[in-house]
Amino acid sequence: MSIRNLDDLLGEGMSGRRVLVRADLNVPLDKQSGEITDDGRIRAVLPTLSALVQAGAKVVVCSHLGRPKGAPDPQFSLRPVAGRLGELLGAPVHFAKDTVGDSARSIVEGLADGQVALLENLRFNKGETSKDDAERGAFADQLAAFGDAYVDDAFGAVHRKHASVYDVPARLPHVAGRLVLREVEVLSKLTGDPERPYVVVLGGSKVSDKLAVIEALLPTVDRLLIGGGMCFTFLKAQGHEVGSSLLEEEMVETCRNLLERSGGKIMLPVDVVAADAFAPDATHDTVPADGIPSHRLGLDIGPETVAGFAAALSQAKTIFWNGPMGVFEMAAFANGTRGVAEAITKTDAFSVVGGGDSAAAVRALGLDESSFGHISTGGGASLEYLEGKTLPGIAALEN
Ligand code: 3PG
Ligand code: MG
Repeated sequence: MSIRNLDDLLGEGMSGRRVLVRADLNVPLDKQSGEITDDGRIRAVLPTLSALVQAGAKVVVCSHLGRPKGAPDPQFSLRPVAGRLGELLGAPVHFAKDTVGDSARSIVEGLADGQVALLENLRFNKGETSKDDAERGAFADQLAAFGDAYVDDAFGAVHRKHASVYDVPARLPHVAGRLVLREVEVLSKLTGDPERPYVVVLGGSKVSDKLAVIEALLPTVDRLLIGGGMCFTFLKAQGHEVGSSLLEEEMVETCRNLLERSGGKIMLPVDVVAADAFAPDATHDTVPADGIPSHRLGLDIGPETVAGFAAALSQAKTIFWNGPMGVFEMAAFANGTRGVAEAITKTDAFSVVGGGDSAAAVRALGLDESSFGHISTGGGASLEYLEGKTLPGIAALEN
């Protein structure tokens, strides 16, 4: 891979140079209090930022948060992130109230060597996500004016053809940050020659979101374990009634076809936790996967399924896991996700957790992050990498 990395840039000497860092600081915020509920993505970018600070660069960080619609929207402000980033760095982070306006300009101009600024949410500007090359390019020009060099450390966003990811590196000397480098190194092991057996666990709500990765993985993996909301469309494809569980009717035929072609590699739940409502205190029972009562909905995989998945995982030498097994945010439906996560930590396999939700689940359930080989900061990005797609943010660094 012909990508320059942070060490190449540091080797050129940093003092007095302005470095624009694209980070993925898209962290979950509590709806009521606005507080950051999981700061994993902020921590993940610290190695790159600290190295730049120590080298005496003027560090200008930019990121998106959520999906605002191209205009300022206070609920998606990065201000709380600036506070947390400052705490973690142990030095104040100068927060710009806009992305490329007067506030940003004066803050960037005022930076001393070794100081850090954070610009307001990139997606407050239409140009960031525009499909129009000229509109994106015009915004990229404004961003690029804040740096003498560009570092991409936003692994979670490398699959987006956005101005800050794709167009800015065409305008500045560019390198991959420590996080992007590590993510690509790890994921390329999985697409290269993974040690076998290679077992993949997929969860999450929609088959349609995962179809491309299932297609890409089927020939490669030894076993594919499917849980989460999307398992019900597969169960339906096996001819089972799924009650009022999540179902993508239009995907049933596709799932039937995948099952037929899978050569027995796909493992589905044999029991599920079925509830009478989507609520933390709903009445619920474990039922066989082919016996979900018509008025109930499955919200988690059952204990027998967890045991079967754990047995398959215990044989593995390489594991990739993306997507929760159930509604882990509700204690009554967290056992499947916890059970699978614990089973992964008990193996001696090289394990990769992909995705915002699964990574957040690991931390929310209080599991030891260090017992996994790698916890990716990218959900969509890691899946698209495994699909073998060209990722705009990586391609831009290669040029
Ligand atoms: C993510 O959370 O997956 C990344 O930050 C990318 O966000 P997006 O899906 O809104 O582009
Ligand atoms: Mg996403």
